[in-house]
Amino acid sequence: MPAARRPRSLRRWLSRWLAIQTFIALGLVCIAVYYATNLNLGIRQDALLQQKVEVIRHLVEENRGNGDSTRLRHKLDDFFYGRPDFSLELEIDGEKVTYGGPVSGDHVASHDRRITFSLPHPSTPGDSMSAELVLDITPDIRLRRALAWTLFGCALVGAIVAAKVATMLVRRGLAPLDALATQAAQLSPDRIGERLDGSGQADEVRPLVHQFNAVLQRLERAYVQMEGFNADVAHEMRTPLATLIGETELALKTRPSQNALREILGSNLEELHRLSSIVNDMLFLSQADRGAQARATWEGELAEVAGEVAQYHEAEALEQNLHIRVVGTGTAAIDRRLLQRAVSNLVSNAVRYADPGSVIDIILSPSGEDAVQVAVRNTGEPIPAEHLPRLFHRFYRTDEARGFDGNHHGLGLAIVAAIARMHGGTSFARSEGRSTIIGFSVLKPHASGFARDITEN
Ligand SMILES: Nc1ncnc2c1ncn2[C@@H]1O[C@H](COP(=O)(O)OP(=O)(O)O)[C@@H](O)[C@H]1O
Ligand SMILES: [Mg+2]
Repeated sequence: MPAARRPRSLRRWLSRWLAIQTFIALGLVCIAVYYATNLNLGIRQDALLQQKVEVIRHLVEENRGNGDSTRLRHKLDDFFYGRPDFSLELEIDGEKVTYGGPVSGDHVASHDRRITFSLPHPSTPGDSMSAELVLDITPDIRLRRALAWTLFGCALVGAIVAAKVATMLVRRGLAPLDALATQAAQLSPDRIGERLDGSGQADEVRPLVHQFNAVLQRLERAYVQMEGFNADVAHEMRTPLATLIGETELALKTRPSQNALREILGSNLEELHRLSSIVNDMLFLSQADRGAQARATWEGELAEVAGEVAQYHEAEALEQNLHIRVVGTGTAAIDRRLLQRAVSNLVSNAVRYADPGSVIDIILSPSGEDAVQVAVRNTGEPIPAEHLPRLFHRFYRTDEARGFDGNHHGLGLAIVAAIARMHGGTSFARSEGRSTIIGFSVLKPHASGFARDITEN
């Protein structure tokens, strides 16, 4: 198992990198300063040596030709007196003489800068003698070392200061985010309408706050919808439950005859069936909500399925002198039982709302390239336009004013829409004049990709 990555602290990361960067940058500047100083020191030492060489040359020129080197020696002694940083080595009259030079014993040879040159011989004209002028550069080396340490210290201190400043800046920069986290922590389901306040946030953070608020908005909508749904469920169940309780209490209080008792039990069973059908419908809808797809196990002519449904509702339709027709054709790969259920819901609505003696059409038609449309048309009271968009919502009924109707909970069209979704299609409702047409589409075999299972109740 790969080790979990430690969460990265922005503060630590930024200050570390700023410190490293500052140290490198300052280090480079310091190295440049060090080398420039070193170069200048070298040039100055050369100039000093050259200057002294000129003076010595002048002294030697002055004492030339008098055949005696004593005067020259004396002059050189005078010249080098009190100049411990300079020394001159000369070979006069076959003798090696040193003027000036370090007094202390701890002199290091590498702390010298020397120049070798030749001088005219003071006593033998035309002859020359070799000389070496040595400059003790120990003070310069000390200066160089001190400079190196100072520069290194500066780079180090600079890096530490940069790291500290970065830490402070990041802390200050992130402070509004902390405030945002506190705000977010205070959000709770009973304060669902609240949003995060992004006014004090940086421009970079605002889109995040905006998106977060958009998510909250969507959650609020879903939450309110779910709450409404719960209330609807409770509302739908209350009446049959009250009836069940009332009838059972009455049966317990009185001493009903066996026949009366059977009647009560029969009516209770009816209520229980209704309750069970609501619960089953809701279970089905929740499965569809969770993304269940239809199993397209049957592929064929939808007119066949529509015909079966029409037949099923025939008796019911005849009571109102209605005639059910199947118009058009269309093939699709479907879950046959689900499709029957959807068409049946539509037909039962049509039978309920159709003008007596009219014709109900189950219309099959192609919908675009890759879908088939199944619609049921009836003639009757039109559905007001404001109801049309909500017709497929759960528990929605346009005729709410008619009061509780034990067999019509307003889930029929919600199930039609769910079945359409499960077949990759959509649902629609139109009502013009006295013609109402409600239906849905399913994807054709080559376009349908549904394979997931659903347990139908
Ligand atoms: N063919 C139709 N003509 C007029 N109104 C309809 C028709 N079909 C559905 N409706 C309206 O849509 C509502 C929702 O229908 P549905 O979901 O099947 O619920 P239910 O049939 O249980 O009332 C119905 O209550 C009715 O008001
Ligand atoms: Mg219905």
